[in-house]
Amino acid sequence: MYPVRIEGTRVILREFAEDDLDDCMAVVGDPDVTYFLSFDTRTRDQHADVLAKDVQRAQSDPRPDYYLAIADRHTDQLVGFVRIALDAHQRGELGYALRKDRWGQGITTEACQLILGFGFKTLGLHRIQAACGPDNHGSQKVLVKLGFTYEGRMRDHVYTNGNWRDSLLYSSLRTD
Ligand SMILES: CC(C)(COP(=O)(O)OP(=O)(O)OC[C@H]1O[C@@H](n2cnc3c(N)ncnc32)[C@H](O)[C@@H]1OP(=O)(O)O)[C@@H](O)C(=O)NCCC(=O)NCCS
Repeated sequence: MYPVRIEGTRVILREFAEDDLDDCMAVVGDPDVTYFLSFDTRTRDQHADVLAKDVQRAQSDPRPDYYLAIADRHTDQLVGFVRIALDAHQRGELGYALRKDRWGQGITTEACQLILGFGFKTLGLHRIQAACGPDNHGSQKVLVKLGFTYEGRMRDHVYTNGNWRDSLLYSSLRTD
């Protein structure tokens, strides 16, 4: 399905465009944001390549993921990302990140509610899971606010910032 555009109260989820690059850098170029992500902080040149591939990948059929920009509803400015990666068994994996100066305003919670509705209703997913670092209390709070269930701790789940790191696994089922 392409292009996807999902309207919320304060944000819109939409496809990435190559001219989002400067706004993306407020997310992927900020070590305080990428500290909690599974990739290292990127330079503008590095992310230009990634963004071009993201724009292309969105147009593949079938799509391996729905990786969407979180944009301000009034200005259309990209403020973050939200993603559902698709897997077998009607299963998806949720991920998200927001530029730091917009943290704590409920924006990620709203963006996730929108993409979860899309995942369960439009894509027909049965289970959506999310994994986050044990010290990522903001992300854990988002998942609890979304009604996710904590399932357990995965040992050495990701290699990030030069070390193996455990992750906490959460999930939401269509039947929840
Ligand atoms: C995690 C993140 C996406 C949250 O985005 P956000 O838009 O600030 O989230 P929301 O405002 O919807 O909700 C965050 C909640 O956690 C709370 N919170 C934020 N940081 C916290 C912390 N360190 N400890 C406890 N609670 C925290 C907020 O107060 C808010 O709760 P409230 O609604 O009761 O006030 C954002 O901090 C971020 O981009 N972090 C870096 C990337 C990342 O961690 N991605 C997820 C990887 S699993």
